[in-house]
Amino acid sequence: MKKEMLPIKSELKSRRIKFDVPQNTISWAFMKELRENNKTKRIYKEINPYVEVYQFRDNLYGLFTENCDGMGDVWMYLIIGPDKAMLIDTGYGLGDIKALCSHLAGGRELIVVNTHDHFDHAYGNCRFDKVYCHEYLVPYLTNQHSHMWDYLFDYWGDNIWLEFDRSDLPVWREYQIIGVPDGYTWDLGGGYEVELIHTGGHAAGHAAFLDKHNRILFTGDNICSDVSGCGSVGAPGAQGPYAECTLLSYYRDRMRLLVDRIDEYDYIFPQHFMNNVEASVMPNILEAVSAVVDNPDCYDYKVETWGKMRDQKNVRYFKYVRGFSVIAYNINNK
Ligand SMILES: [Fe+2]
Repeated sequence: MKKEMLPIKSELKSRRIKFDVPQNTISWAFMKELRENNKTKRIYKEINPYVEVYQFRDNLYGLFTENCDGMGDVWMYLIIGPDKAMLIDTGYGLGDIKALCSHLAGGRELIVVNTHDHFDHAYGNCRFDKVYCHEYLVPYLTNQHSHMWDYLFDYWGDNIWLEFDRSDLPVWREYQIIGVPDGYTWDLGGGYEVELIHTGGHAAGHAAFLDKHNRILFTGDNICSDVSGCGSVGAPGAQGPYAECTLLSYYRDRMRLLVDRIDEYDYIFPQHFMNNVEASVMPNILEAVSAVVDNPDCYDYKVETWGKMRDQKNVRYFKYVRGFSVIAYNINNK
């Protein structure tokens, strides 16, 4: 039976051509209801026609943008502090995200941070002069270059996954990348603190951000109501500096720390799909991750796919998280 994903009414300048994989039904229902009926939604068409702005708290905006490739659509978050504002992730940079943030921040100084380096979270960095991240992420961000958006277009220059104007992507320019250690804390004014917490898992230099005023933990791509890809078993799935941080065992240890600190936050805001998820989900995620680390064969189901040349089998294993979604992992020594 074909999986249905009924279209979501949208006034964005972008238009979906296709997704690579069907999205989780519950996540899709949440996004359809939010995007079609939420009363705070606003598109600042004259500044950036590619972003829907939602107000989730008095001083917190969710900036929704469609993913330029075939994966899940993306959240960026803007916290407005008393003196300074903080933007968490920059998407693909489609449309003038800098001008939009400046407008919403009412002239406050803007601090830009990344959860991780992947296309849909950090390709808009070059619209800004300076970006902060965990120190392990720096070598990955320095790999960015002027052709990194080319894969979004086919041989004839047409969009593959999402219809948009190529001229609305950023023009590549160098920017300052500042790596900070685990626990680094910014003051947005008047003692309004946001702390970086290194998590690894989904990417070696992946970090979460704890907004201590709103008691919100921004968890990047490690927690997702669709599928949480938060590490592999056996050997790291990724190559590169600090690759061992992408092991599920490393992530389990960082999750344990986040569960130990659960009294410091009430809600989880992931970078894709459902947000405002109650923090009570954290021990359940830790339980699932720990079970897999102890016994990688305790998965609930697996999905086999073949590479583009149909010569290489990839097996992804899935484990349910009580009351939530699934974690997905590869067993790399199998
Ligand atoms: Fe992502």
